[in-house]
Amino acid sequence: MLSADEMKQKAGAHAATLVNNGMTVGLGTGSTANHFIAALAARVKEGLRVNAVPTSVKTKELATQLGISVIEFDDAETIDIAVDGADEISYQLNLIKGGGGAMLQEKMIAHTAKQFIVMGDETKMVVHLGKFPLPVEVVPYGWKQVQRKIEAIGCDKVVLRVRNEKTYITDHQHFILDCHFGEIREPDKLNSKLKSIPGVVETGLFIGLAKKAIICHPDGRIEELDE
Ligand code: 5RP
Repeated sequence: MLSADEMKQKAGAHAATLVNNGMTVGLGTGSTANHFIAALAARVKEGLRVNAVPTSVKTKELATQLGISVIEFDDAETIDIAVDGADEISYQLNLIKGGGGAMLQEKMIAHTAKQFIVMGDETKMVVHLGKFPLPVEVVPYGWKQVQRKIEAIGCDKVVLRVRNEKTYITDHQHFILDCHFGEIREPDKLNSKLKSIPGVVETGLFIGLAKKAIICHPDGRIEELDE
């Protein structure tokens, strides 16, 4: 039986085989995405030519270190394929993302890509999203007012993200509120409600964006789920 990290590694390696010569590739953020980036870098060393658009400062650093050509998002005429991990993946291929705090850039790049592919180990698959607290990126100004408004639309607990005893700050200088909604039956409606609150920048709900999921099972079997 493979460990969770071994499953992520296999999913990442499989996803890297879907990249073709000349493509512009959106690079996700997180441990699964890091495995994909390493596998892509190995193909680049063998002669594959790609340009990459990273979804975070961390990913930009890793891709650059590994010899992948990185370009600015605004300079990409097109993004052929974007590949990323997720915190939860429903069987309809809706996602919760943002455990790693990069969902704003991740969503902008996934939305721009011609094809957005999500990868995960089997434990990421869920019938209903919501066990993983939903990350919501907010501007620092008035964040407690936003917290109250999210509670008022039915969230049990809204927690300001803290790392190493300091408020977590995203690459875009925002805060993250981790929102414990429990089972999310209507992700689209919830996303709209959250985005109508002034001060909310983006949510970790990725609805209708992923066209394919690459899932690795504990026995090493890779499954591709299409939308
Ligand atoms: C970062 C993310 C990640 O994709 C998500 O947290 C999954 O991470 P990992 O691949 O480490 O399990 O959304 O913002």
